[in-house]
Amino acid sequence: MDTEQNPNRIFESDRDRVYAAETSAGGDFRFDDAVARVFPDMIRRSVPGYTTIIPMIGVIAARYARPATICYDLGCSLGAATLSMRHSIPHPDCRIVAVDNSEAMIERCSHYVALDDGPLPVELQCADIQSMTLDNASVVALNFTLQFIPVQQRQPLLERLRQALTPGGALILSEKIAFADEQEQARQLELHHDFKRAHGYSDLEISRKRSALEQVLIPETLDQHRKRLGEAGFSSITLWYQCFNFVSLLALAPETDPTR
Ligand SMILES: C[S@@+](CC[C@H](N)C(=O)[O-])C[C@H]1O[C@@H](n2cnc3c(N)ncnc32)[C@H](O)[C@@H]1O
Repeated sequence: MDTEQNPNRIFESDRDRVYAAETSAGGDFRFDDAVARVFPDMIRRSVPGYTTIIPMIGVIAARYARPATICYDLGCSLGAATLSMRHSIPHPDCRIVAVDNSEAMIERCSHYVALDDGPLPVELQCADIQSMTLDNASVVALNFTLQFIPVQQRQPLLERLRQALTPGGALILSEKIAFADEQEQARQLELHHDFKRAHGYSDLEISRKRSALEQVLIPETLDQHRKRLGEAGFSSITLWYQCFNFVSLLALAPETDPTR
C-alpha cells in the first residue's frame, strides 16, 4: 500500500477541528460527514495505540484467517483495519466484508478501497451490525465499535459473532475501557488527556468532545468485557494490547463447537 492509497495520510485541510470551532458546542457526537472527512487525523490523535493496533490486526488476521472464509470488519469507518487485513491474509479465496451504518463513512471508505491494490475482494455494506447476517467467519474485527452499541445489546451481538465464527476463529475487540478503582480511572483519564494535548488538542476541544461522547460512547471495565466474552462462548481471551485506557483483546471461538 503506497501513501497515495493510505487512509491515514493527512492533508492540512483534513485536520480535525470539529470541536475547535465556536459553533461546535452542544449535541451528541455523530459519525457524520464532518467527522468522516477528518477521521484519520481524529482517531490517530485521540486513540493512544491506534497506529500500532491497525497493523497488528493484519498480523492477527494472517494467523487466524482460514481459506474460503469471510473476514469481517464491523464498524469499519474508512477501512483502515480492512486494508490492513487485505494486505496480510495469505489466502486468495478469503474475502473481506466491511460494514458501517454511517453513509458518510462508507462513501469515503469505498474510495480508499478502490484506490488500494490489495489482493483480496472487499465488499462494503452500509448496515447496522446488530441486524446484519454473518456467517462462515474466521476473523471478526470490532475495532473501537462495540463501545458505541447500547450496553444491553452487546451480549446478543457477541453471541451472534461467536456463532458466526468457524471453530478456532478470532474476534479482535478493541475498546476504550473504564476502571473500577476511582484513582486508577482518574490517573488513566489524565494520561489520555495528556496524550491528546501532546497531539495538539486544546483543553476546550478535549472537554467539548468529552461532553459530546458522554451519552454515545459507554466504556466498561476489562472484567466486564472478559465476563461477557466468556458468557458468549469464547474459549480463550487474551489482552494483547493496552495503552492507558485503550485496550485490544483477542477472543477465540472453541475448536469444537457443540452448537454446530
Ligand atoms: C471509532 S469508529 C471505528 C474505527 C474503525 N474500526 C477503524 O479501525 O478505523 C466506530 C465506527 O462504528 C460505526 N458504528 C457504530 N455503531 C454501528 C452500528 N450499530 N452498525 C454499524 N456501524 C456502527 C460508526 O459509524 C463508526 O464509523
